[in-house]
Amino acid sequence: MPVGRRQLIVHGSQLGLAASVVGLAGCAGRMEVKAAPPAENGIVRIPLASHPGLEVPGAAVALDIEGLDDQVLLVHGPDGFSCVTRKCTHMGCKVEYDGAAGHIQCPCHGSQYENDGTNKKGPAKKPLTQYTATLDGDAVAITIA
Ligand code: FES
Repeated sequence: MPVGRRQLIVHGSQLGLAASVVGLAGCAGRMEVKAAPPAENGIVRIPLASHPGLEVPGAAVALDIEGLDDQVLLVHGPDGFSCVTRKCTHMGCKVEYDGAAGHIQCPCHGSQYENDGTNKKGPAKKPLTQYTATLDGDAVAITIA
């Protein structure tokens, strides 16, 4: 089913990461979770140099951020960066990014979300929790507080 999948595994120890950053994925499939740097003043900075695939639209990285109950998905879509929880609002499965289709998808029952977490297709009826993600120099700043 998945085609065109790209993955990049970043070792937390090499980046001085405290939690886990997930992996890069160009389409639906199992994403690998990696450590993210610790938040400073409620902001987690994800260096693009550490995730080269994120430099172009159509990729995503799954992150485990210290202090958050659920992993997040940092997406670089055609309109820029977005960050949402990976917890599907239907029954809680971990959503993934389908870069070929350009949306977030749940592997369990097929719910689809736009890159900003709004609902595209059910059965999920509620949007994914969104965190602000903005390009800040050579990194993406995710606001978690
Ligand atoms: S848990 Fe995601 S669609 Fe059912």
